[in-house]
Amino acid sequence: MMKSYIWSIPTRVFHILFALFILLAFLTGDEDRFLNYHAVIGYFVFILLSFRIIWGFFGPKHSRFKDFPLSIKKAKDFMLTIFEKKQNYVGHNPMASYVMVAMLVVTFLIILSGVLTFGIQEGKGLFSYLNSSMFKEMDLFKEIHEILSNLLIALIAAHLGGVVFDRLFHKKDETLNSIVTGYKVTSEDNSISLNMFQKTIFIFFVLLFVGFVIFNINQPKNLLVASVYTPIDYKVQNELFVTECGSCHTLYTPNLLPKKSWRLIMSDLENHFGDDASLEKEDNISILNFLLKNSAEESTKEVSFKILDSIKNKDIIAISDTVFWKHTHKDIPKTLFSHEQIKSKANCKACHLDIEKGLIEDENIKSIDSFK
Ligand code: HEC
Ligand code: HEC
Repeated sequence: MMKSYIWSIPTRVFHILFALFILLAFLTGDEDRFLNYHAVIGYFVFILLSFRIIWGFFGPKHSRFKDFPLSIKKAKDFMLTIFEKKQNYVGHNPMASYVMVAMLVVTFLIILSGVLTFGIQEGKGLFSYLNSSMFKEMDLFKEIHEILSNLLIALIAAHLGGVVFDRLFHKKDETLNSIVTGYKVTSEDNSISLNMFQKTIFIFFVLLFVGFVIFNINQPKNLLVASVYTPIDYKVQNELFVTECGSCHTLYTPNLLPKKSWRLIMSDLENHFGDDASLEKEDNISILNFLLKNSAEESTKEVSFKILDSIKNKDIIAISDTVFWKHTHKDIPKTLFSHEQIKSKANCKACHLDIEKGLIEDENIKSIDSFK
């Protein structure tokens, strides 16, 4: 028995970065306020994935796809001799190869469904132009993204399971150590070395990766995360709306309620939530027309769809009375809404710093902890 150098530095660097960025993606995936970071991490995974695919065609022996023992016969033989001490495979065994190829394919599909979700639902990133398209009401890509992510978890579990199994039954091969050291114990010398072309590929990707890090630090609002929505100056659009409807409370922007709700509100301003907010007739008409023209039905924003879906045809005139609103804010302690800087759940702007500009960006939500 002897030691063979089978995993080159590029292969090992890829492995550790891929594991790290997939982990980061899972950690940032659940919380809305991390969504931009989650997206950028996804682009990093894409760069790593591209490297691994190219490496699979032009890399050294053991790392190339054509060295993966993927035939059914080999898989069968492997399973029949799996408990035997002596193993035939220097690189990936057939089972490991299947899992590995599946991980690469699934990861690619996760990234694709991710950028589509980001573009269609949030109006952000490379596919943001699809936000106003016919897909706009679809949750489809998000669901695909989530199902595939669960599949990836299963594949990672299979991968780790394989490593544990190997450690228990073929400890002498040192497979686990090999992904750190590059060396595995084999019966004959199977060592590899990199040629100039392979080294060039690696250097190119290192530069690309580092360049992408610098780019994202210098331009956090680059086109990969940029939103199609820009802040709106409502004063320019309808000054009366701002002065009248923003004087007692948050300026609830027109896209936050359907036409029916705005009609109900504007037809009964004398008895407006216990206040008299009545207006001159023509002022009332001007504001109502403005609200109708920009109501939730006219918007492509995700929040508008959710509110419409939640209100349907009900006579609801407060956003904070919708099931959607209650659901989104269910994790906020009820007592916080009586905090002296907030006072009411209808005081949206205490927490949503950009709401009066027609945006409710995740990164502009004030942290709940900052009120303590
Ligand atoms: C005289 C003060 C006053 C004026 C002017 C006023 N409102 Fe209100 N509005 C209130 C009060 C008080 C509430 C209840 C807030 C609370 O629950 O804390 C309210 C609540 C609302 C809500 C429900 C918010 C929610 O989701 O809980 C909407 C929508 C609303 N107002 C729209 C308007 C519009 C449109 C105008 C302009 C035509 C307007 N308001 C002008 C006092 C006013
Ligand atoms: C006490 C602070 C607070 C107040 C007041 C508040 N919100 Fe929120 N809101 C939050 C937090 C925190 C979240 C994020 C919840 C999460 O992701 O778990 C949120 C989430 C949302 C979302 C979902 C954003 C997204 O992209 O998923 C919408 C829409 C929203 N709020 C609208 C409103 C409106 C409209 C009002 C006023 C009627 C309001 N909020 C009042 C704290 C607040």
